[in-house]
Amino acid sequence: MLSIKLVAIFAFLVCSSALPHERTLQNNPVLTADEDADLTVPELITKYGYPVEEHQVTTSDGYILTIHRIPHGKDSTTVSDKVVFLQHGLLSSSADWIITGTTHGLGYILADEGYDVWMGNARGNHMSRNHTTLDPDNDSEFWQFSWHEIGAIDVPTMIDHVLEVTGQTSLYHIGHSQGTTSFYVMTSIHPEYNAKIKAHFSLAPIAYMNHMTSPLMHILAFWSGPLDVLAKLIGINEFLPNNEFMAMVGDVLCADDDITQFLCTNALFAICGFSPDEMNATILPVLTGHTPAGSSVNQVMHYAQEINSGAFRQFDYGLANLDKYGSLTPPPYQLDLITAPIYLLYSHNDWMSAEVDVVKLCENLGDACQAKFLIADGEFNHLDYLFGIRAPELVYNKVISLMARH
Ligand SMILES: *[C@@H]1O[C@H](CO)[C@@H](O)[C@H](O)[C@H]1NC(C)=O
Ligand SMILES: *[C@@H]1O[C@H](CO)[C@@H](O)[C@H](O)[C@H]1NC(C)=O
Ligand SMILES: *[C@@H]1O[C@H](CO)[C@@H](O)[C@H](O)[C@H]1NC(C)=O
Repeated sequence: MLSIKLVAIFAFLVCSSALPHERTLQNNPVLTADEDADLTVPELITKYGYPVEEHQVTTSDGYILTIHRIPHGKDSTTVSDKVVFLQHGLLSSSADWIITGTTHGLGYILADEGYDVWMGNARGNHMSRNHTTLDPDNDSEFWQFSWHEIGAIDVPTMIDHVLEVTGQTSLYHIGHSQGTTSFYVMTSIHPEYNAKIKAHFSLAPIAYMNHMTSPLMHILAFWSGPLDVLAKLIGINEFLPNNEFMAMVGDVLCADDDITQFLCTNALFAICGFSPDEMNATILPVLTGHTPAGSSVNQVMHYAQEINSGAFRQFDYGLANLDKYGSLTPPPYQLDLITAPIYLLYSHNDWMSAEVDVVKLCENLGDACQAKFLIADGEFNHLDYLFGIRAPELVYNKVISLMARH
């Protein structure tokens, strides 16, 4: 009975992406209105006393992407030559790195540590939802991409822009979730980009996915065939589930307390999971103001394919693979072409990034995998790397001390 309910809910979830979206807070007792929910990323950074720049770059295939920069810390006036590029995950944006505030946001922390901080936005999120010729609202062609294109085109385009503006030849790269996937795509598809990376830090690495435990992702993977057909039939290409439908998901899947119910109505948290002990209730209104930030249906489908195949390979177009790749199965990403130094930070309770899958990734990366670190908190989950109360202590301090070695 439960599984029928879940499938119905998931079908709704995909379909509800087509319904109008209101970025307003729901009537929930745990929430107090917070003006930060409605401020843009540059407005937030300015409000908290840090310098900020917004840059726009256009990819070779016409997508107009927004990059945010915090050139230096609060107590400094000079821009350092240590450049770091941060890339967000699925359904997320550059807001990830700053919405927890100046004491907890990795963007601010790195700026205060003396880094020139750049934060990317992948095609299709609400800050990179524009194109030179295609209209995201009316041209389904705009949405014909997965994280393959993000890694093969967006991230290298943004990195080249950053290197050009800063006059540097290499930078540090930190990715979360899909921000790690797109890094492995970039450095295997374009091995020449390895030389532009001083070191890469994967927070919750995702390449192999067949051991992940997220209930919603499992349902999605199991039904991905029919759901894909359904999505195409009714013309849905953007994955941004509607709030009312997410509230139904919350009712079925989530514990009954206010915070859990509230977060379960947010597609990002419902899919990825979170650790209640790591959640700071004060920032909930701000989190919901900025997430989920939008993705294509094909980004989600590409992950569903990985869960089903257990392989880390390009998008599966079915019969069209022959045309596209000259083979029936999509080509695997060649991890042996990755040579940039990589550090993997992973955790025991991560719904999306399972320990065994991370161990396999490190093995297949060979010498590039410098080290992997299991987070000390056994309950630490996928989104706690960004929003967890103890993220600075458990994750960022480690990353910063490792960066100093390169
Ligand atoms: C999209 O980009 C075009 C330039 O190609 C610009 O004129 C337009 O204002 C942009 N739209 C949005 C919503 O940013
Ligand atoms: C999209 O198309 C509809 C009609 O199909 C039109 O009313 C609307 O203005 C278009 N949107 C944009 C942003 O061009
Ligand atoms: C929760 O967030 C608020 C607002 O950013 C911050 O002032 C407070 O220190 C945070 N609490 C904890 C326990 O991190």
